[in-house]
Amino acid sequence: MRHRFHALCPYFAMFPEGFVEKWVDQLTRPGDYILDPFSGRGTTPFQALIMGRKAIANDINPVAFCVTYAKTNAPSISTIRRRLTILENDFQPNDYEPARRFLPPFFRRAFSPPTLRQILYLRSQLRWKESNVDCFIAALILGSLHGESSVSPSYLSNQMPRTISTKPEYSMRYWQKKNMRAPRRETFEILRRLLNFRYASEPPVGRATVFLADIRDLPRFKQKLPGRIACVITSPPYFNVTSYEEDQWLRLWFLGGPPFPTYREVSKDDRHENPTAYWNMITDMWRVFGLILAPNANIVVRFGGKGYEPNQLIDAMTACSVVSRRRVRLAHHAVSVIKNKQTDVFRPGSKGCKFEVDCHFRMG
Ligand SMILES: C[S@@+](CC[C@H](N)C(=O)[O-])C[C@H]1O[C@@H](n2cnc3c(N)ncnc32)[C@H](O)[C@@H]1O
Repeated sequence: MRHRFHALCPYFAMFPEGFVEKWVDQLTRPGDYILDPFSGRGTTPFQALIMGRKAIANDINPVAFCVTYAKTNAPSISTIRRRLTILENDFQPNDYEPARRFLPPFFRRAFSPPTLRQILYLRSQLRWKESNVDCFIAALILGSLHGESSVSPSYLSNQMPRTISTKPEYSMRYWQKKNMRAPRRETFEILRRLLNFRYASEPPVGRATVFLADIRDLPRFKQKLPGRIACVITSPPYFNVTSYEEDQWLRLWFLGGPPFPTYREVSKDDRHENPTAYWNMITDMWRVFGLILAPNANIVVRFGGKGYEPNQLIDAMTACSVVSRRRVRLAHHAVSVIKNKQTDVFRPGSKGCKFEVDCHFRMG
């Protein structure tokens, strides 16, 4: 059975776990440290733990941090059950009615009043940065906050894609045109159901170290990093493809952000349209690798970009590795075509990235 934590919360441009599994198996041994500095939903660190490796993860986006930390530092199911009972017993719906009324119209169309009061309560109570129990509950909510509610009763919202949060105006037009209303959902009931479903798989024994930071800041945490990071399996933002901050705006709101999409406040690197700025970010990534990786480390990078041919991407990535000031050799590369994007259903005609490139480098 596929481990049920993998799909805790979807994320745009996420790795299939088979990709990580193959490279972990090929390049590392049990006990080795594996790093993903752009961890997204945490596939690399989680798969590494399942395979008996040690894991370090980082991402600048709080949604990515929450989901990664939840799966790689999972508490026991009984602790989460106890916390849910306490939260449910303490809930006073009327206390959250003023906050509900003050939210922008999108929220009142997206969620039924009782459901929105529950969401607002949990948003105000969960200490997801401080407690792994609250973090797991928050990650469960992030995974069910929006999605195809007409086909699944586990989604709290009116009909939306599950991978990204569509923009408020677009969503409202869509619901109005299709005459769709927000379903009434019992959040605590759904959380209990999802919890039982996820914990049908045993959490891994090991725990990952997870940072919420810009990749450029990782050398500052060197004290907390182990000396020998043997392997990196990662996927930086693709050139001019998507903004995780915009795509995740509703989940970011749940984690304490503003009730509207923001741009370049969480991350300045999500969607570079300027090639110089993009390759500067990749150069910064290599500088960090040069500072923190062990001798003979392996680095696997999956990436892509609009307007580039695969060979141009591979050549540019290889050229940037020079700034690591280490000997870096491209050992293997592969190109694959991207198909079946869920967002196309909601944003017909949206032109994404047509292929992605995998590069395996060996560092001296
Ligand atoms: C392609 S996604 C990674 C997806 C991941 N492989 C997965 O399986 O979900 C790129 C990630 O880079 C993060 N990111 C963007 N700029 C960053 C930065 N300067 N430092 C760290 N993370 C950053 C984004 O938040 C996003 O989660």
